[in-house]
Amino acid sequence: MRSLVLALPTLAALVGATPAPLGSLTSPSDLTTNANHVFNAIHSALRQWGSSLNHNGMSYFLATVPKGTQLYHGTSKEEPISGMEWLAYEPEHSLVFSGRHGGPPPFHDNFRLNDQQQPLFESGPPEDDDDLAGYLHTYCAAHPLRLIYVDGEAAAKSDKGTLDTQDYILLNGTEKKGVFWDFERAKGMCELAATEWKGQIHGILRMEGGFEIILCSFKDSLEVVRITRAKSDSRLEEQKFDYYRAITARYDGVGGDRTLLNYDQFVTGFDAKYGIDLFREVEGRTLPRLMNATAKQVGMMREDIRRVVLGMGTDVSLPEHSFNWQGVADMIVGRYAARLKYLVSPSLSTLEAFQREIDSTLQPFIDYARRNSTTESERCATQFIPETAPTASESMAAAAVSHVAHTICSTLLSASEETSYEAAVEKVKELIEYLDWTTWKECGACDPDKLCMLPIWPFGSLEDFMHPTCMNATQMTGRRGYWRLWGRS
Ligand SMILES: *[C@@H]1O[C@H](CO)[C@@H](O)[C@H](O)[C@H]1NC(C)=O
Ligand SMILES: *[C@@H]1O[C@H](CO)[C@@H](O)[C@H](O)[C@H]1NC(C)=O
Ligand SMILES: *[C@@H]1O[C@H](CO)[C@@H](O)[C@H](O)[C@H]1NC(C)=O
Ligand SMILES: *[C@@H]1O[C@H](CO)[C@@H](O)[C@H](O)[C@H]1NC(C)=O
Repeated sequence: MRSLVLALPTLAALVGATPAPLGSLTSPSDLTTNANHVFNAIHSALRQWGSSLNHNGMSYFLATVPKGTQLYHGTSKEEPISGMEWLAYEPEHSLVFSGRHGGPPPFHDNFRLNDQQQPLFESGPPEDDDDLAGYLHTYCAAHPLRLIYVDGEAAAKSDKGTLDTQDYILLNGTEKKGVFWDFERAKGMCELAATEWKGQIHGILRMEGGFEIILCSFKDSLEVVRITRAKSDSRLEEQKFDYYRAITARYDGVGGDRTLLNYDQFVTGFDAKYGIDLFREVEGRTLPRLMNATAKQVGMMREDIRRVVLGMGTDVSLPEHSFNWQGVADMIVGRYAARLKYLVSPSLSTLEAFQREIDSTLQPFIDYARRNSTTESERCATQFIPETAPTASESMAAAAVSHVAHTICSTLLSASEETSYEAAVEKVKELIEYLDWTTWKECGACDPDKLCMLPIWPFGSLEDFMHPTCMNATQMTGRRGYWRLWGRS
């Protein structure tokens, strides 16, 4: 255990709470079997891009929103909310719900209103001015908000698996009444927060077109910054583009340290210790699902979530308490994403050229007077993992990130030792397939009037998923179908 971790119990002792050691979970984790998926979950956490592509999240992280962070709510009502409601990180996301009747505008026409929106129809503001719509409420966190982040695109009301971590695990699969059951879903999770989680959690953090929080009590957790009147807007195409531009601006992260995650202790269906039959082939893609989890497996996951939540003392999830494994994942992806693609590209067509490229990649880790592939691989794999980082026995993220780093480095070394070009390239191709980084689907820079179009519920087509491209407001209209691919939502 190194300095950063050593500091932790000391601080925790000061506030009278000790985080549960990893050994206190139901049994030891196995994060190497699915290390590639866990690595990608860490890399995509709180990012609109990777979480939209890997939309079936399997993981639960402790998250903290710092005190003072501004968050938004759109509604037909002027009065501040006091109970449970939805909060968005981007005001444009909330404006979607600031219509006169509190519902989404017509460009959102392919999903029905969530149950929670319906009462708003009865009590909209007086229709005195056609230019005015409902209200945009701006709040700020009155204290650090402690949340459970369900990753992927967990607010997408689809039957593709986006809701699995909530419906099959948190809500025990008991009362599921279809994908538009969101109000009951939210109530159920807040109930869990109040009972099983002993009031330690203020809400649930999820993502759809924008990140959002189901906050269990507005009154207890927020201060009103301002409540303003929204305008009624008939330029639907522009309005939709504005909304999409605001949420896609968060492709690389919700940003600004508006939310901090704990990567050292979390719960994930990818943990092979649960033994859940996860992967399902659908139309040429492999998607993780939790629908086959047995009652025993569901029980184990719920118990681990409970222990992680309750082990979280007063401020254990503050930034100094979790090493930033996403930062390490970024360094690894940044160093290898382009190089790996280059290695399998036609630009390198001979074994010699291929070996030269690997040699320049690994050069910093090689003592040319004393070649030793074990040492070289180890140096390469630990390049971005500081001495002070918690080890794999102390941090769940460490186990997955180190495993992936070792796989990259040892595969490159062994590929360079191949005697045929085809065999060498094949090894790197398999590595690329294994890693399956979402970075490889990026559009690159788009012109200022365009954005990189990806299916984000309820918009987008299968083509947008397979080959995202830059599109302007006109080109984006009518891109539909992705979310209806396997049965109607
Ligand atoms: C979850 O479901 C199982 C099996 O149906 C049941 O035994 C258990 O009590 C349920 N737990 C909760 C918290 O609802
Ligand atoms: C779950 O069980 C069903 C029925 O036995 C099966 O068809 C499916 O492939 C299993 N796996 C997943 C991940 O759903
Ligand atoms: C390579 O390095 C490892 C670890 O330091 C060592 O155990 C091994 O004997 C070395 N191999 C050779 C061939 O020198
Ligand atoms: C988008 O691009 C198309 C094709 O270049 C063009 O016809 C259209 O006017 C553009 N729309 C906007 C809103 O700029």
